[in-house]
Amino acid sequence: MLKFTVITIFPQMLDSALGHSILKKAQEKGFIEIEQIDLRVYTHDRHHVTDDYPYGGGQGMVMKPEPLVAAIEAARRKYANARVILLAPQGRVFNQSAAARLALEKEIVLICGRYEGIDNRIKAFVDEELSIGDYTLSGGEPAANVVIDAVARLIPGVLGNENSPLEDSFTTGLLEYPQYTRPEDFRGMKVPDVLLSGDHEKIKQWRHEQSVALTRERRPDLLAETATRNPKPTESGAAKAAVYLALLHFPVYDKNHQVVTTSVTNMDIHDISRSGRTYGVSGFYVVTPVKALQKLARKIIDHWETGYGSEYNVTRKQALEIARIANSLDDVIIDIERETGKKPALVVTSARPIGSRTSFTALRDMLNNNTRPFLIICGTGWGLTEAIISQSDYVLEAIEGYTDYNHLSVRSAAAIVLDRLMGRQGQIDRRQS
Ligand SMILES: C[S@@+](CC[C@H](N)C(=O)[O-])C[C@H]1O[C@@H](n2cnc3c(N)ncnc32)[C@H](O)[C@@H]1O
Repeated sequence: MLKFTVITIFPQMLDSALGHSILKKAQEKGFIEIEQIDLRVYTHDRHHVTDDYPYGGGQGMVMKPEPLVAAIEAARRKYANARVILLAPQGRVFNQSAAARLALEKEIVLICGRYEGIDNRIKAFVDEELSIGDYTLSGGEPAANVVIDAVARLIPGVLGNENSPLEDSFTTGLLEYPQYTRPEDFRGMKVPDVLLSGDHEKIKQWRHEQSVALTRERRPDLLAETATRNPKPTESGAAKAAVYLALLHFPVYDKNHQVVTTSVTNMDIHDISRSGRTYGVSGFYVVTPVKALQKLARKIIDHWETGYGSEYNVTRKQALEIARIANSLDDVIIDIERETGKKPALVVTSARPIGSRTSFTALRDMLNNNTRPFLIICGTGWGLTEAIISQSDYVLEAIEGYTDYNHLSVRSAAAIVLDRLMGRQGQIDRRQS
């Protein structure tokens, strides 16, 4: 359940917009709760004044700090872990990945400005500022409405069909393909033949091509973003196939061979992102079904991608740009399929002795000569479960030294696997000679 608290001087303004359709049902079913707080409750004068003249002169009035800060402090007392967001045209632009990040919160406080703006000192009391786009609204309420809508529909269960937000424009990094319904012929405009063909593979391919073409025409900036997320090596000798990595925190074994969920660690996320980025991995998925751990992973990634860390250390930002969070291995496969238009070949890694193995050389050849995407799956804890291994297409040979000790950290194992599969061959040859 995600609780939204909206601080506003027009507490009825959102009622109508939030009282219909999906958002209404989401409230009735207890997925979200929305409370609108009248800022004037936190004023102490007879006229409940919330604004004053600007220092230095200028147009209009400015919102006073005292009532707003009192309202924020009251909300924080009630919800100790609330994410407090100021809606402001100067904020970072709210987009789909911000919506996905906020959908993992439990309590969100949205502050709506009015008049010519707010006293700047209020910013010291909020966690972030968000703008819904490059235009000026008369007040923050429509922006709060937008944020609540975009976030709420990402909460599992809010939409009837749980998969539908995954298909939306922006979730994939692309604009959505054109949709059609009956009639087949509308005023001489026909539904494209492929959609009537019943061939699901062809339809999927067509939709992907349409998405890419539409995005290229209307929003090349999104493609540029996807390209930096998915750095493609161009030199010969580099893998032709798009290679993805997944770090599974469930299902994995513990040392008693019980299936468990392991914790997400800061070090794994950082180090595997850095290795992945170095060797040209298209995406690194941190996979956990636990919402609190997803939130932790999101916090780590966002700190370096968009927060203070992104300015402090640009190379770390570039590495963490390939990191993504997923609920399950199935979700990872769907995501890759959507991004590339093809189902990935699944490669598992394991230190345990398991039947027939694919050698590093054989897999390296496949990566160099194949355009099908590959997903390399690494386990945490005491390794991937048999169920995951039996679902895979290839079991990669184990990494071994000449001792009977074999307890590499998953970070080290991932780096060695990537180097053997995607590292510069020349250096490997030199090492061998
Ligand atoms: C008239 S605007 C203030 C504009 C201010 N003079 C400026 O140029 O930044 C009043 C309030 O509307 C909200 N607002 C306006 N545009 C917005 C946007 N693009 N995204 C989010 N909130 C916005 C903010 O809460 C803001 O404090």
